[in-house]
Amino acid sequence: MFAFLPQIILLAAHLLAATAHGQACGCSSVVVPVDVNTLIAKDPNDPLGGLESNATALRRLNAKYDIFGVFCAPREKTAQSTDVIQLLTEEFQNQSYTAYACDRGLSTLAIDLVGVGKSTRPANASDVQYVTNGAAMSQLARHLKSASILPGVKPFNQVIGVGHSAGSVALIAGAVADAEHSPFDGLVLTSQLSFQPGQLGAPPVVSARDDTPIRWGSLEPNYVTLDIRAPFYPADTTLFSPRMLVYDNFTKDVAPISVIPGISISSLTANYTGPVAKLAGVLDQAICVGTGRCDDLAKLTALERVLWPKAKSFQVVLTEGGHCMDLDFLADKAFSVFVKLVNQFAGLH
Ligand SMILES: *[C@@H]1O[C@H](CO)[C@@H](O)[C@H](O)[C@H]1NC(C)=O
Ligand SMILES: *[C@@H]1O[C@H](CO)[C@@H](O)[C@H](O)[C@H]1NC(C)=O
Ligand SMILES: *[C@@H]1O[C@H](CO)[C@@H](O)[C@H](O)[C@H]1NC(C)=O
Ligand SMILES: *[C@@H]1O[C@H](CO)[C@@H](O)[C@H](O)[C@H]1NC(C)=O
Ligand SMILES: *[C@@H]1O[C@H](CO)[C@@H](O)[C@H](O)[C@H]1NC(C)=O
Repeated sequence: MFAFLPQIILLAAHLLAATAHGQACGCSSVVVPVDVNTLIAKDPNDPLGGLESNATALRRLNAKYDIFGVFCAPREKTAQSTDVIQLLTEEFQNQSYTAYACDRGLSTLAIDLVGVGKSTRPANASDVQYVTNGAAMSQLARHLKSASILPGVKPFNQVIGVGHSAGSVALIAGAVADAEHSPFDGLVLTSQLSFQPGQLGAPPVVSARDDTPIRWGSLEPNYVTLDIRAPFYPADTTLFSPRMLVYDNFTKDVAPISVIPGISISSLTANYTGPVAKLAGVLDQAICVGTGRCDDLAKLTALERVLWPKAKSFQVVLTEGGHCMDLDFLADKAFSVFVKLVNQFAGLH
């Protein structure tokens, strides 16, 4: 099973998608510098990312990173579009969730995590742990609430975090560390369930520089990638475009090695006080199919809820699609759930 590995943001596809949905939506690239000052595990293979370690196992990371993102907002401003922003950790490629949400009046900032895509890629992959990205996302959310990211765009009152897979784990790491001080007004965590250390089998990652030397030949070996993409799709191949797999293979990106053991952060209790929803696709071959975990919603909800004792509300929603909810033909069904949750968390409906 391999429940992770970021999908890279594909800017071109993203902008095309936004255009295809008409001129009602304006998109711009932005780069937001964030200061990350946090303790991380000395050992990047620490399954809990140092969040439960004593001081001797930790080191201080104090770094500035540029977070690249694409900001999209409805051209016609409403309270909904100017008060609330969705921070998407892991962009949804095809069909575009950004365009879907924009058509329904919601703004988004889809970002590349630290180490991925056009955001800063630290020379040393061991600096990039979930705790690093959790801290970076919290800084970014605070920035969105206090500063204008583009001329004419006011700071937002509410930031809802929408995470996908490894992006969800980054948001969880931030929720564990920030607890009631989290800048997020709600969390929508997709394609991610809790895993105890060692529970997830080792996925067949390869050093990115060996996988595709022409793109990644200069990276240190602890930036990894995955060339087996099929588990991210439903087993039924009629449910997605065959071209999608090819496209995915060409647009995949790298992740730091810590993305694998660090998934166990999802087994930690978060004293986060906002509302939380988890979404899993019943056809998700990485975390649902064959595990029995997604067969009984009540049981799954009870298991996951334990980790969020202080959440204002907690729910699990099972959707119809696969792991990468945007890449199969069932995407719109998942998107409609995201929009509903975001509006609900923001108090808009
Ligand atoms: C601190 O953690 C290290 C590594 O995990 C361990 O070897 C050491 O015994 C711990 N020290 C204390 C005082 O708990
Ligand atoms: C990465 O940083 C860690 C901690 O500072 C250090 O131990 C390690 O040698 C570095 N690795 C590389 C490849 O520079
Ligand atoms: C993306 O989805 C659209 C349908 O919304 C489809 O026509 C197109 O072929 C898909 N792109 C790829 C690369 O599969
Ligand atoms: C992915 O692309 C690489 C070339 O970058 C190619 O060697 C490999 O066969 C492709 N894999 C799939 C599953 O298409
Ligand atoms: C959550 O709060 C409880 C007590 O209120 C505390 O014991 C626990 O350590 C906290 N957990 C984290 C991860 O901060």
